[in-house]
Amino acid sequence: MYMNNHWSEYWQQGHTTSFGEALSGNYEGVLKSIWQPTFAGLQDGFMAVDIGTGNGSLPLLIREALIGANIKGEVVGVDLAEVKLTDKAQAQQSDIVIKLLSNEASESLPFASATVDLYTSQFGFEYSNINLSLKEASRVLKDNGHFCLVFHHSNSMIINRNRKILRLIELPQADELVTCLSEIAVAMGKVTSPDDIARIKQDPNCEKIRAEINRLIKYLVLFDEKAAQDCQLMMFVAQFFKDGLFWPIEKKQQFIEFIKLQMDTLKLRLTELLNASFDELKLAGFIGEFTQNLLSLNELKVLKNEQNEVLGWYLSAQKNIL
Ligand SMILES: C[S@@+](CC[C@H](N)C(=O)[O-])C[C@H]1O[C@@H](n2cnc3c(N)ncnc32)[C@H](O)[C@@H]1O
Repeated sequence: MYMNNHWSEYWQQGHTTSFGEALSGNYEGVLKSIWQPTFAGLQDGFMAVDIGTGNGSLPLLIREALIGANIKGEVVGVDLAEVKLTDKAQAQQSDIVIKLLSNEASESLPFASATVDLYTSQFGFEYSNINLSLKEASRVLKDNGHFCLVFHHSNSMIINRNRKILRLIELPQADELVTCLSEIAVAMGKVTSPDDIARIKQDPNCEKIRAEINRLIKYLVLFDEKAAQDCQLMMFVAQFFKDGLFWPIEKKQQFIEFIKLQMDTLKLRLTELLNASFDELKLAGFIGEFTQNLLSLNELKVLKNEQNEVLGWYLSAQKNIL
């Protein structure tokens, strides 16, 4: 349930991909080009389904890939969270109809059996119960229908970076830092004028907590500077002392509660992400389920970017004709 909420909040901010500000438009590079041959193979009147679609990044790439192809078709994006196309995407005229369905799970899809030509997912499928979703994919696919996934690799740059952030925010020192903010808010008392600042500087208790805050910041930055920046904790602490210094105590405490919530949500999100990723062993187990689900593997590869860094796995399979 948590998961549903945090993704809904994320998609309501209007992002197109799950890479947030780092990728303001839609996917580029390998994560776009890998799909082009699959999309180019779609026939007139096709029905495609995209799982864990978010705000429809892949459906929009399908539409873009088929501009000028003179074929009609439908792409239904499915997500457990509350999702929607941006107004701009909604307004585009196209022969490719895109529908996004919120609050729908890949384990139980709202489609009749043998109705889908192409089943896709980019960084979505792996968050679900993969065995149930695989069975369901096989049910909705037509004979010869395609099953194509891009999914998280446990050793990708994305996962490695996020693993480091999680390691940092799970340190007791990260919690202690937030506790110290709360203590200093009380110890400082009302702060309204430069005289108060002078008073605080003379106060041994305030100085003691301030020294502890500095020690904790130093510890965290030395532990992993990049992760310390990426998790935003340092930015929140700076904001507390800069914008927040003259706030009433209640407002300071509210801000500290906000920081705690942000850190807890981040922990949850990153734990889900790491659990969703596939190493070779998990992948072997997954592919081992294909035969009984009437799927044949066509292609499996590690996707890398221009700098040769791992981005994820790519897998393509096809439903067997009985
Ligand atoms: C990382 S986002 C990927 C979104 C999009 N495909 C992209 O590449 O930007 C993962 C999405 O999977 C969705 N999701 C997680 N479990 C799901 C399930 N069982 N069924 C459908 N969607 C699910 C989440 O709500 C979230 O929106």
